[in-house]
Amino acid sequence: MNRLDSFIELARERRSTRAFTEEPVSEEEITNILEAGRFSMSGANAQPWEFIVVRDPALRSEIVEAREESHLVNAAIEQTRLEEFRLRGKSQATSQNVGFKNAPVFIVVIGDKRTHLCSVYSTPFLPGDCGAGTTYLKNMANAAHNMHLAAKAQSLGSMWVSIGKLWDEPIRRILNIPEIYDIPCMVCVGHPAEIRSNGVRRDLKDLVNWDSYDMSHYRSGKDVNDCLMNQRQHTRSAYVTKP
Ligand SMILES: Cc1cc2nc3c(=O)[nH]c(=O)nc-3n(C[C@H](O)[C@H](O)[C@H](O)COP(=O)(O)O)c2cc1C
Repeated sequence: MNRLDSFIELARERRSTRAFTEEPVSEEEITNILEAGRFSMSGANAQPWEFIVVRDPALRSEIVEAREESHLVNAAIEQTRLEEFRLRGKSQATSQNVGFKNAPVFIVVIGDKRTHLCSVYSTPFLPGDCGAGTTYLKNMANAAHNMHLAAKAQSLGSMWVSIGKLWDEPIRRILNIPEIYDIPCMVCVGHPAEIRSNGVRRDLKDLVNWDSYDMSHYRSGKDVNDCLMNQRQHTRSAYVTKP
């Protein structure tokens, strides 16, 4: 297979793994993943990312416990969402929710927002979505995504785990992460204990516009909701309230 075909196949076949065996991942495999993260694109080459590779079972258990606790708060907040988007039947969190529980490697992706200073032209002075904070987050997501692809390229499974404010504090404490760093996500890696079905994505013809925006693609709010619900049946069935 040529390089392009194998790359497209890699991009298509990477799936979020949410059940792992306890089979270890070698240091070489981990280093390959980190190398893919290191070489990600970033605005003005700011490279805000650093990585904490957590293999110690005691530390991983502490992180999982903290996640379970944060799920209790999540579950309460979940009740405020549009019913059809709520996580199915979850009013209480249990360890079952933590798909990354057995993954032997958690790569915690931390970022240094002082790299904002690297942004060029007006970016540091613009607010909200136009500002340097958004560039920073795009940079971090690039690094995480490269690492997920590198895991897949080695036949490993990986799960994107968003950290968010609800369990930022315990992770920071458990891993001794200084305040200056932001903790957007973890890339959990291991050997998959599940076979995931094919990925579900919108058709290329529906999302690609040539030269100018094609109004026949324009979607109402209902179209967007219907599409999300349909896709979730396949990707995140736990989110689907009605079969
Ligand atoms: C920004 C972002 C946040 C995500 N957060 C989580 C998460 O916290 N837990 C989880 O299980 N999956 C998470 N995912 C994975 C998505 O649910 C998954 O990529 C999507 O459903 C498509 O499925 P696939 O990755 O198997 O193709 C996240 C993905 C992204 C890009």
